[in-house]
Amino acid sequence: MEKLIVDDDLYLSPPTDADKEALVSHLNDEEIYRYTLRIPYPYTHKDAQDFLNLCRDQRKQYGRNLHWLIRRTNGEAIGCIGFHLSFGTDSHRDELGYWMARSYRGYGFMTKSIKKFCEYGFSYIGLIRIEAVLFDDNKASQRVLEKNEFKYEGLMKKIHEKKGKYFDGRMYALVK
Ligand SMILES: CC(C)(COP(=O)(O)OP(=O)(O)OC[C@H]1O[C@@H](n2cnc3c(N)ncnc32)[C@H](O)[C@@H]1OP(=O)(O)O)[C@@H](O)C(=O)NCCC(=O)NCCS
Repeated sequence: MEKLIVDDDLYLSPPTDADKEALVSHLNDEEIYRYTLRIPYPYTHKDAQDFLNLCRDQRKQYGRNLHWLIRRTNGEAIGCIGFHLSFGTDSHRDELGYWMARSYRGYGFMTKSIKKFCEYGFSYIGLIRIEAVLFDDNKASQRVLEKNEFKYEGLMKKIHEKKGKYFDGRMYALVK
């Protein structure tokens, strides 16, 4: 199984059917819904199954895994990080998405997962530029990016659309 070791406490690996309950439990969180674009709320078992199917299909189509679960050494899934493949398989750039389960926030887990994942993006995928476009008021997410040397590049007016409403986004990028 593909595995990216973050450190002695954490590793990243692809989602499997055994992660369905953890996904449903962690993703029934309004804050995750509020700050992301593709995760429904409330989050049902069907949503989790759709996500697992999508991961499997993407893996077949692109020959690599796009979404990785962040796991403790016992295998428990506590978060997720992935590339959206927003600009196609041949692009030098991609967009990062991530969430951490509420009870595991504030321990530095996402900061170190992003560090590892960007190393993987640059060295294995060959990216030159990794982007994240945050909702304007997402302070925790700004902080994890800044701790990983991402630079703020500006405010993107009405870049996010959600249920017919438009939101400004802050563009952050890490450039090789
Ligand atoms: C953003 C998120 C992934 C961070 O995960 P995490 O594992 O808690 O991150 P870390 O512990 O590595 O770092 C969090 C940092 O944000 C800081 N922080 C948290 N809330 C904050 C706030 N309201 N204002 C300012 N800083 C804040 C923490 O103090 C910490 O910084 P520090 O190490 O300097 O003290 C998590 O909060 C989350 O899943 N949020 C909901 C989904 C989301 O926003 N996804 C990102 C979409 S772009």
